[in-house]
Amino acid sequence: MEPVTIPHHQQDPGVAAPVLDVRKAGKSYPSRKGDVLAVRSIEFAVHAGQFVSVVGPSGCGKTTLMMCIAGLLPISTGEVVFRGETMSGPRDGVAVVFQDYSRSLFPWLTVEKNVVLPLRDRRLPRAEIRDRVRQSLEMVGLAHAAGLYPWQLSGGMQQRVAIARGLAVRPEMLIMDEPFASVDAQTRASLEDLLLKIWAETGTTVLFVTHDIDEAVYLSDRVIVLSQGPSTVVADLPVPLERPRDQIATKQTATFGELREEVYSLVMASQRRTSLSAEPA
Ligand SMILES: Nc1ncnc2c1ncn2[C@@H]1O[C@H](COP(=O)(O)OP(=O)(O)O)[C@@H](O)[C@H]1O
Ligand SMILES: [Mg+2]
Repeated sequence: MEPVTIPHHQQDPGVAAPVLDVRKAGKSYPSRKGDVLAVRSIEFAVHAGQFVSVVGPSGCGKTTLMMCIAGLLPISTGEVVFRGETMSGPRDGVAVVFQDYSRSLFPWLTVEKNVVLPLRDRRLPRAEIRDRVRQSLEMVGLAHAAGLYPWQLSGGMQQRVAIARGLAVRPEMLIMDEPFASVDAQTRASLEDLLLKIWAETGTTVLFVTHDIDEAVYLSDRVIVLSQGPSTVVADLPVPLERPRDQIATKQTATFGELREEVYSLVMASQRRTSLSAEPA
């Protein structure tokens, strides 16, 4: 199937049905002492082509929520609706990129073979597979590295391989769970800009988890703020910053400064509330 190519700025969220609709989704993990609630009740919708970030304190349930949205974990309560259908397992249209690239790539496979992996079960013609792999490696600027092994690459390059693998399936929605948390600041900035370029080119919907507030504001159309775990949504803020964005100019605008302050105080307030309510009576 061809990727969705409608540019995000041509979408009218008021009219189209959301591509993703998370309805009162909750998740608890079983444990010996009974179920442990990781996500209380999350509700939000994402329209096709949007770039939406999710921020929240460490341990609040971001990874759990993304695994549920990707169909990799069953939710306990509520519903995740993707393109009008309730999710009950992994979907072809959804790709996930995790933080830990060193564990998500297979060291004994070349870059090219790592990117081919998710395409293998899809019964695509061989030429189509070759084209897709080449195209996704080109998108992340790694066409020259196809024959290398992950351990021959820097951390930033390995994460680009993981992104290329996600792109190879031509996902309608790309879920990224703190994908740039393990690389240095400069690499991170260039990966952010690479991601924005790919997003603009492909029109893919992106759901991006980060605990970095600046990163969330810089990248997104919207920032969803989660409470301390078990999480709920405490805010869903539009980001009215012009595109294309620029690491220096965008971050110098008054709007950027106001938004980062707002998100920061929301995160701090939700942490304070939780620690107060957690105190013994
Ligand atoms: N497989 C698991 N089994 C039991 N508890 C888990 C499991 N994975 C995560 N948790 C718990 O769920 C909560 C949310 O974790 P997680 O989703 O990783 O948060 P975040 O990604 O926001 O840091 C934490 O309290 C964590 O200890
Ligand atoms: Mg996490």
